[in-house]
Amino acid sequence: MSSESEIVQIQDVVKDFRPGFGLRKKRVLHGITFGVKAGEIFGFVGPNGAGKTTTLKVLMGLIRATSGTAKILGHDITETAFRSEVGFLPENAYFYDYLTGRELLDFYARLSGVDSSIRAKRVDTLLDWVGLSHAGDARIRTYSKGMAQRVGIAQALVHDPSVVFLDEPMSGLDPIGRKEIRDLIIRLRSEGKTVFMNTHILSDVEMVCDRVAIIVHGKIRYQGHTQEFLDDGEHQCEIMVSGVEPEVAARLEEQHGAELRGVGARVEMTVPEKKVEAVLESVLAARGRVLSVTPHRVSLESIFLDAVREEEA
Ligand SMILES: Nc1ncnc2c1ncn2[C@@H]1O[C@H](COP(=O)(O)OP(=O)(O)OP(=O)(O)O)[C@@H](O)[C@H]1O
Ligand SMILES: [Mg+2]
Repeated sequence: MSSESEIVQIQDVVKDFRPGFGLRKKRVLHGITFGVKAGEIFGFVGPNGAGKTTTLKVLMGLIRATSGTAKILGHDITETAFRSEVGFLPENAYFYDYLTGRELLDFYARLSGVDSSIRAKRVDTLLDWVGLSHAGDARIRTYSKGMAQRVGIAQALVHDPSVVFLDEPMSGLDPIGRKEIRDLIIRLRSEGKTVFMNTHILSDVEMVCDRVAIIVHGKIRYQGHTQEFLDDGEHQCEIMVSGVEPEVAARLEEQHGAELRGVGARVEMTVPEKKVEAVLESVLAARGRVLSVTPHRVSLESIFLDAVREEEA
């Protein structure tokens, strides 16, 4: 895809921090390059301290990169006019908790210049959108974490931006809260918005993100489509059987390319997906029992762990 359709472009971005006066500078981003395409949900994944929030702060213009360029919607991030197209949920967002959800959203709508004639309606729509209509008039201090996170996402959307940046939107949430936020993010995409999210919750990434980049120690170690690794053609299956004589096991190895582990009561084997039926038939014909058949998927977790190990090697 051409770079014009990239909504976010980061090119060779380096960030050094000086931890204190006279102390040696510490390089946190080592020249990172990646792009986010229009209408996708992009997951920026990495272990604690990898540089995700720092990258997002550079993009939001909160800190300056030491070198390199970053653009959003084709504008250099040092420009300000395009910011009305950008929504942002900071990491561990803290909101004035003596305000009600409705007051908070009204406050942010004023800040971002939403016209007074449509503001009240916009706030109502957003409360409904994030499922907080019933709690709009309760103070935020009475909200659960999931509710606070949802009001935070509503806050990022008050001015109807086309790109939304979320730093750890699922952190601290229980499985129900995470599902609610995932559903919201998917809804944002269905409205044509582009979503960039930082996270280290890999199962959420597998469920919602179209593409991911993995950052480890300030370097991009992997980029790819989520579908590519969840669905990459040559699958293997793990089959566990019992009651198989050694000569039958040997035949499975020879005829079907099964990789066997353990003999005796239980035999475990890895088999190419297309051989699974033949292997099962042979086992049953030899009066063996099939205990389990488990498709083996390449998971984001294995890619993530490889990326971290490679960087640390
Ligand atoms: N203002 C700062 N001064 C010095 N070092 C900093 C500063 N901000 C961040 N760092 C360092 O930069 C590195 C990356 O931090 P960052 O917050 O970007 O990580 P992260 O990937 O968002 O991690 P987490 O998953 O924990 O949120 C860390 O080692 C952190 O200590
Ligand atoms: Mg962070």
